Amino acid sequence: MRAHVVLAEWLLVPRALGFSSDANGGFRYDDGDLTAAASIDPRTQHFEIQRAERRDSDSDSTSFGRRRKAESSARAKLCRMVGQVSAPPRGVVILDFGAQYSQLIARRTREARVYSEILPYDASWAEIEKRNPAAIILTGGPESTLGPDSPGMDPRILKSGIPLLGICYGMQLIARDLGGELVPLGHAEFGPAQLENDAPQSSLFAGIPATSRVWMSHGDSVVTPPAGFTSLAHTARCAIAAIGDEKRKIFGVQFHPEVVHSEFGKSVIENFLHGIAGIDGSWEMDSFVDRSIAEIRARVGDARVICALSGGVDSAVAATLVARAIGQQLTCVFVDTGLLRKDEAKNVIEAFRDVLHLNVIAIDATERFMARLAGVVDPEEKRIRIGHEFIAIFEEESNKIDDVRFLVQGTLYPDVIESKTPGSKAGHKIKSHHNVGGLPETMKLELLEPLRTLFKDEVRKAGAVLGLPPAIVARQPFPGPGLAVRILGAVDAQRVATVRQADDIVTTEIEAVADSLTPRPWQYFAVLTPLQSVGVMGDGRTYADLVAVRAITSEDGMTADWARLPHELLERISTRIVNEVQGVNRIAYDITSKPPATVEWE
Ligand code: XMP
Repeated sequence: MRAHVVLAEWLLVPRALGFSSDANGGFRYDDGDLTAAASIDPRTQHFEIQRAERRDSDSDSTSFGRRRKAESSARAKLCRMVGQVSAPPRGVVILDFGAQYSQLIARRTREARVYSEILPYDASWAEIEKRNPAAIILTGGPESTLGPDSPGMDPRILKSGIPLLGICYGMQLIARDLGGELVPLGHAEFGPAQLENDAPQSSLFAGIPATSRVWMSHGDSVVTPPAGFTSLAHTARCAIAAIGDEKRKIFGVQFHPEVVHSEFGKSVIENFLHGIAGIDGSWEMDSFVDRSIAEIRARVGDARVICALSGGVDSAVAATLVARAIGQQLTCVFVDTGLLRKDEAKNVIEAFRDVLHLNVIAIDATERFMARLAGVVDPEEKRIRIGHEFIAIFEEESNKIDDVRFLVQGTLYPDVIESKTPGSKAGHKIKSHHNVGGLPETMKLELLEPLRTLFKDEVRKAGAVLGLPPAIVARQPFPGPGLAVRILGAVDAQRVATVRQADDIVTTEIEAVADSLTPRPWQYFAVLTPLQSVGVMGDGRTYADLVAVRAITSEDGMTADWARLPHELLERISTRIVNEVQGVNRIAYDITSKPPATVEWE
């Protein structure tokens, strides 16, 4: 005997709830106890459960009461799965042909409040279709479309009727595949150029002035657009700098609208997303947070979850999001390595335990870390030892909790893309980054990564929506191995105390005026060098430590410039450190960018 339930609830991401596709384009759910059938409404794009059945253990029963009971428990179970979920906005698929700027394209679409996902250029049509994109963007790439093995796109993209924008290589690919003509340029065109808008009436260039500055970077050029396309713009060195077919909603731009150097690039992208593809721009943090909470609830059910808190913004937001979804089923483990900034351990524990009421186990492991680091001077060795010790402690603590099934990680979107897209797989290892996110594969836990679609600035927004204190949300990045990589040479309690005190002065002084500095420094700290130099204090000779001050401007830490701090500010920092921090008699300011230097000194 089966109990039937008819439900029409909207819900998000069928797969996240354990549904699988069936042969008729619908979805099925079966966990042995509950079965359900669902489909996507082609008009609203909403996911709808049409029918759910719960297998009744007493299969001979014809009792009305029993049937009602089974029916209402099926309904309750489904309602719990569904949660309070609104339908996701339709987004954009960005196909990455190995461009330097793919992430920037994703950022720009998100800034236009349109959800976007980057897929490798060779993603299967099924992968693309599954996302039901409202538009597709093809990125630039290092190859030439004229080369023998140039990366191509699935022909179904061009036939799909989905609005399409090709950028640089993407435009050339559209032109090539639809029968246009391309030639290699005698000289590649790099850098700024003046764009002449030849089609002010075109929907892509609506509101763009007759001339504007754009950023070019290409070796080939389209010389004849494909049938049905018109040329929309040119530059002095590029006769066809944009093409479009209004009817089919397929466009290409040779320049890079995603970089800030393209004056009206943002408008071009917005014209495409809103005007041409008709996407309404409703991707907002509040709805992201609500949907994530419902998804986490659905996935976790009654299971227990652990999370390693580092005090950094990513693990803080991830933990809070999960806690909102499942409350006391989450246990956070906070390991004080003894290598944190001044008062950091205390503040983190207070914020999470007393303000956010999370379940936090705090371990003071200072001595264990000091013992592991004794006499170690090699930066990689330090990083590795700290990482291992951290994992050992985390495992010990989580083994004390029964029935843990999930581990929360604060993985962000750039990490996800990094491991998936072409052109980013190679590269030398510069540093072994240790994050609480890179935790134990040996633990055989399922991963919960609620931030894996977000960029760092979006994580901060999500944190604010969740009500995290500004001190946590606005916190500057801090390396997993902590102050150990800001102490060159051996680490001991005394040297940790020295760098911690100097760091506190740097931070306090810069923060006091940071809002008036443009650009606002992105990260700032002190480094204790292994150098001593001669000085004079009072009437006596000193031979004491050299502290370096590092302050950078950056967007994401991938590249950075040294911050042009006002001299009076540097003077205050210097005077305070030599006066207040014992054993330091000289301050140097780091004036190297990244590259060639890195942000941290080790
Ligand atoms: P580098 O020194 O690689 O730093 O130029 C780039 C950014 O990353 C931070 N950083 C780390 N972050 N775990 C982290 O989570 C680490 O091991 C780590 N090492 C460096 C650094 O502070 C800068 O913001």
